[in-house]
Amino acid sequence: MKKNNRSLYVGAMSGTSVDGLDLALVDIQLINDELKVKVIDAKTIALPFALREDLLVLGQPKDDDFDQLGECDSLLGQFIGLSINSYLSELGVSGADVAAIGSHGQTIRHRPPGGRTTPFTLQIGDPNSIAEITGITTVADFRRRDVAAAGHGAPLTPAFHKILFGNQDTNIAVLNIGGISNLTLLGGQTLIGFDTGPGNGLIDQWCKSHKDMPFDQGGSWAASGQICDGLLKSFLQDPYFALGAPKSTGREYFNLPWLERHLEIISQSTSAPLATEDVQATLVELTTQSIASCLRKESSGIAAVAVCGGGRLNEYLMQRLAVNCGLGEGNKIIVQPTEFWGVDGDSLEAAAFAWLAYQRMNKLPGNMPTVTGAKGERILGAIFPG
Ligand SMILES: Nc1ncnc2c1ncn2[C@@H]1O[C@H](COP(=O)(O)OP(=O)(O)O)[C@@H](O)[C@H]1O
Ligand SMILES: [Mg+2]
Repeated sequence: MKKNNRSLYVGAMSGTSVDGLDLALVDIQLINDELKVKVIDAKTIALPFALREDLLVLGQPKDDDFDQLGECDSLLGQFIGLSINSYLSELGVSGADVAAIGSHGQTIRHRPPGGRTTPFTLQIGDPNSIAEITGITTVADFRRRDVAAAGHGAPLTPAFHKILFGNQDTNIAVLNIGGISNLTLLGGQTLIGFDTGPGNGLIDQWCKSHKDMPFDQGGSWAASGQICDGLLKSFLQDPYFALGAPKSTGREYFNLPWLERHLEIISQSTSAPLATEDVQATLVELTTQSIASCLRKESSGIAAVAVCGGGRLNEYLMQRLAVNCGLGEGNKIIVQPTEFWGVDGDSLEAAAFAWLAYQRMNKLPGNMPTVTGAKGERILGAIFPG
């Protein structure tokens, strides 16, 4: 493999779906004042079963257990470090050629401004262990400086979306459908980006509860159900959907107890309980209608929606997204996976954290105040020497 002297960065990310560790090897160079970003390779490594179960538990507010928190922090850091070591050796890349690792870690709690508590956000996956195991300088804790500057600390990817898609002639929106969905609108005067609400998270959790499967492959189970208008209406009345940007959310808000509260409301006006597949179809509708309504509200003249994240692999969800975005006779909006534009949709978020590590190492800001609501641009992340 061709090595560029110390222009290689590794991004490591585990999103709200807690489905796996996404790794990306990215070459980042400033050439004639222009930033050149090339994703060389990417891979997703499944999390060990027991660690995943513990991380899911930690992501739900309850009687929090500091022992479990501390242990998961260490175990995840070790897992990330060891995974990067084997990933680099598979690729034949020496750690000495990597300038830095950007590790997001796992969010176990996100309490943005505007809520009932003092704002904070918490990602675990001890970067000390990552630096110790890999010997590579590791940058982590990217979100908290933005929160300290009165921002949401999220989303942090819109600036990276702009680097990848900003040169397109079309007015494009980048949509990441992970556990939570986030949308970046590139066409306006200022960059806008925010969490639209649920992505795959509720869909996965309902599937796990009733089918004992981690996700609904291709959305076929949802496709077998009927959308329940009353339930959908109840979902969409949640105040989150009416909030303007900046806004961000997480699993501590959109989770099974949230869904069960709405099912309870609906059960008071229906005689028979809803079929489980009808709930699944309605959850897909919630994800896609809430995204489509943001597109309508926040921006005009969108010509294309580039979809990344695991949700783009759910065929039924993609069909409903196209319908709800108003695709049809005479409408020219393109809704396509990012691959349509030559960008791998699985590694994009991990690659963004490689870029954030580059920004930190070069003392450049990582946040966009128009997106997060922070008081100003800030250099994000702490450096753990290799
Ligand atoms: N073939 C598929 N069919 C349906 N859904 C899928 C498929 N592949 C992935 N997904 C969905 O994508 C999710 C993972 O997406 P990802 O972008 O990694 O999210 P996150 O960033 O939250 O980890 C899975 O939990 C699942 O819901
Ligand atoms: Mg994931």
